[in-house]
Amino acid sequence: MGRIRSSYVVASLVIGLGAFALGARPGIPASSASQERVAPDERAATEQIRDLLEAQVREGFRKDGPPAKRDAHAKAQGCVKARFTVERALPATLRRGIFARPATYTAWIRFSNAVGSDDRSGLARGMAIKLTGVPGRKLLPAEANARTQDLLLVNYPVFNIRTASDYVQFFEANRAGTVDAFFAKHPRAGALTAALAAQRIGNPLLLRYFSMTPYALGDRYVKYSAEPVSCATRTVLHDAPPNPLPDDPNYLREAMTATLAHGAACYTFMLQLQTDPATMPIEDSTVLWSEARSPFVAVASIDMPEQRFDSPAQRRFCENLSYTPWHSLPANRPVGVINRIRRVVYDAISTLRHRLNGVARREPSGNESFEGSPTW
Ligand code: HEM
Repeated sequence: MGRIRSSYVVASLVIGLGAFALGARPGIPASSASQERVAPDERAATEQIRDLLEAQVREGFRKDGPPAKRDAHAKAQGCVKARFTVERALPATLRRGIFARPATYTAWIRFSNAVGSDDRSGLARGMAIKLTGVPGRKLLPAEANARTQDLLLVNYPVFNIRTASDYVQFFEANRAGTVDAFFAKHPRAGALTAALAAQRIGNPLLLRYFSMTPYALGDRYVKYSAEPVSCATRTVLHDAPPNPLPDDPNYLREAMTATLAHGAACYTFMLQLQTDPATMPIEDSTVLWSEARSPFVAVASIDMPEQRFDSPAQRRFCENLSYTPWHSLPANRPVGVINRIRRVVYDAISTLRHRLNGVARREPSGNESFEGSPTW
């Protein structure tokens, strides 16, 4: 253990010096490789998180019966077919990986509650985008030839937990009913969790979503955000949550269904470049990257045409999809501790639920079509 610790210290000093040397000019961040730091206990804590979540999925399966569900974001409001168009004439600095050239991809976008099945409660809301028909080798060796690129977003700009060992403690405190004691020790996590929980939501198609965690963009770093816009004018739209909330545990699904029954819904997808490694860190996803210092830049448009998305076959298809930030081209690689944990955990949980459900895990082609969904 002593040896591991001292070699870690030496390694991070070397990496750290490299980062300062590369980042010597103010405002020019170091290369992607140089800003990642792996804590000595990260690997063990990640394995612990995987084991805890696997046990939780098994327990849910024993108690509630099939199908075994996702450990997080189990309830989908809906999963819709969309077009994701990378803009023409992006600045040269942004043309990396999926954003390298103008193209239109068919996407499957799954909207979800992070926690719980009642739309009136629960914490974050998810928007998981899966682009199909994406050429090039991908990061996960087992799925290197997959033609998908995933972009996972939540309706809040920062994550509530900083490190792998904090995540273990947070999870265990939650289970033991002592989360207040955890928050007393980690007040920032407490404040962020409270802020997430306080958000009132009217319609999943009118929320602004964020990646929370950073990604490489070639040798730079970025965060992602998607903002709802009018399909006709591309001006920004805002959610107007009803007060009081409707007396319906599925009111978000109903709102989404009603919106797409009568017309299209659109988003602008944006990147925020890291311009200062000190105030826009890679390893701490609880820190907000200032939009005043580095505004988000539009790089793609998302169009969800009028459609129905509630056929049993489409629901089954979406339930069996697997989204992970690691379904990615190398140039758009997920970075930072929270994303490194997700590499291990999403694969384990998706594999487990597919095995328990007797369903093969496969990436979609984008040619799927269901009753009520667009035929392209
Ligand atoms: C250590 C931190 C995290 C853990 C342990 C975790 C865990 C999970 C797990 C187990 C799933 C289900 C995977 C599957 O069965 O296919 C999931 C789904 C999801 N996570 Fe996370 N997550 C973490 C952080 C984040 C962050 C920072 C975001 C921010 C965007 C996020 C967004 C999502 C979304 C949107 C889904 C739903 C994907 C879908 O629709 O299938 N998660 N997460």
